[in-house]
Amino acid sequence: MHTKLFIPGPVDVRKDVLNKMANPQIGHRGKEASELQERIEEKLKVVFKTKNHVLISTSSGSGLMEGAIRSFTKKRAAVFSCGAFGDKFYKICTANGVPADVCKIEMGKGFSPQEVIDFLNKGDYDLLTLQHNETSTGVTNPIGEIIASVKEWHPEIIIVVDAVSSLGGMDIPADDWGIDVLITSSQKCIGLPAGISFASISERAIEKARGIENRGLYFDYVTLYDFNLEKHQYPSTPTLPHMFALDYQLDRILEEGLENRYARHRALADMVREFAEKYFKLFVEDEKLRSDTVTCIANTRNIDIGELNKKLTERGYIISNGYKALKDITFRISHMADYTEEDVRGLLDAMIEVLGLEVDD
Ligand SMILES: Cc1ncc(COP(=O)(O)O)c(C=O)c1O
Repeated sequence: MHTKLFIPGPVDVRKDVLNKMANPQIGHRGKEASELQERIEEKLKVVFKTKNHVLISTSSGSGLMEGAIRSFTKKRAAVFSCGAFGDKFYKICTANGVPADVCKIEMGKGFSPQEVIDFLNKGDYDLLTLQHNETSTGVTNPIGEIIASVKEWHPEIIIVVDAVSSLGGMDIPADDWGIDVLITSSQKCIGLPAGISFASISERAIEKARGIENRGLYFDYVTLYDFNLEKHQYPSTPTLPHMFALDYQLDRILEEGLENRYARHRALADMVREFAEKYFKLFVEDEKLRSDTVTCIANTRNIDIGELNKKLTERGYIISNGYKALKDITFRISHMADYTEEDVRGLLDAMIEVLGLEVDD
């Protein structure tokens, strides 16, 4: 039996999308490959709401996160962390010998513009990183407001936003908000298997990168950018199966319409939040910060999440335990990509049944 993945990535991929991966291979230096990549780039620009170039990387999003740290930090990075993926950016900095400081807040909370500015005021930073959607806690940071403040007080800082678990499911207008580098992966709201990721990049960021040494090679944004500009090609051999599927899936996404897609994600999130509030408690207290793509639920009934998942799997579903320190005290349900209300209803009904929860008439 197929198990529907309600873990926060990878998510289920539609059969018609998967089938596109089986297209016959093409040469990666030919006209057909350039045309494929150019089509993908143009559609990604619409999804990213940007006029800037959108690069692809034949890696999951972590590769582009690492590339961004190396390509754009000349002085020191300010890393804002409200959970596991913020911490990851800091680990990337230390692993690459890039000078950085981390500003950490309690899990379940999000950053305010003032907190960000206060931290930036204390150092000499030329890059900042922040999660739009922190998957470990289900927090969506108010990125638009934060960036507006950064632009006012520290306009020279390059802004790198990790939207791995939200782009395509929530509205993140890269240009309107002034994001320099906006990164996402394929296996979440875009609805493809993992293995390809994307980043939009501003001109001022790329010009700055040209003056930075030791940017690495494989994830060097300048190399990716220049190859892209010259021929709409990829510096090494790209993952063509992902590109075939992406070309098709982006058509589907644009056919659905971005605003409709966001509304569907919000409606699914509302269903899960209603369930959580009725039977448990939402981990994120501030409702303005609750993610529309992944819900983190406080395990107030102290259920055995492993046992729950065993029984759910027998019914064709799987959810996720909490992340690391939150492993047993929370659990997470994702509502990303192509799920319908019927899919989510099916999962929630299965949970009600397995946990023996009371249903109102
Ligand atoms: C918010 C966030 N950032 C970064 C990553 C890492 O992305 P990837 O697994 O595509 O390398 C993830 C993965 O779950 C994530 O949720």
